[in-house]
Amino acid sequence: MADIENKEKKWFYSDVVKEHFMSPKNIAMEETDVEEISPNGMGEVGSPACGDVMKMWLKIEDDRIKACRWKTFGCASAIASTSMLSVMVTEKEGVKIEDALKIRPGDILERLHGLPTVKIHCSVLGDQALRAAINDYFRNSDQKERMVDLRKA
Ligand code: FES
Repeated sequence: MADIENKEKKWFYSDVVKEHFMSPKNIAMEETDVEEISPNGMGEVGSPACGDVMKMWLKIEDDRIKACRWKTFGCASAIASTSMLSVMVTEKEGVKIEDALKIRPGDILERLHGLPTVKIHCSVLGDQALRAAINDYFRNSDQKERMVDLRKA
């Protein structure tokens, strides 16, 4: 009995996770969803833990993230955490790049009210795609000196 209860706890999904999984925010379902933000940064990363892939597009203006779109072949946890991340980086008229780079998977988990322990690596996928997209923006806008180390996500 205790075993079953522990297993249930291990696979507990908060209401916030369910909401973001059922109606993901800023997801790119069609190419036009990406085109409408005229992105100037794109990042694509894969998870060494599970092999899933995440792609993210950003529109950056005045050093703020004005819009974000993403698409993944990852699981429900990757969908929920990247949906939340996309909200976090675009809220309040767009978060400044330097502040977006300070966001860590732990911050996403806090906003999601947690994820099952075995699913925590899924929240890293969006975080790394964000960094890759920001680096792409730096590369495209002649600011290579600002590029960040993707391994530090
Ligand atoms: S299991 Fe691959 S992203 Fe979640």
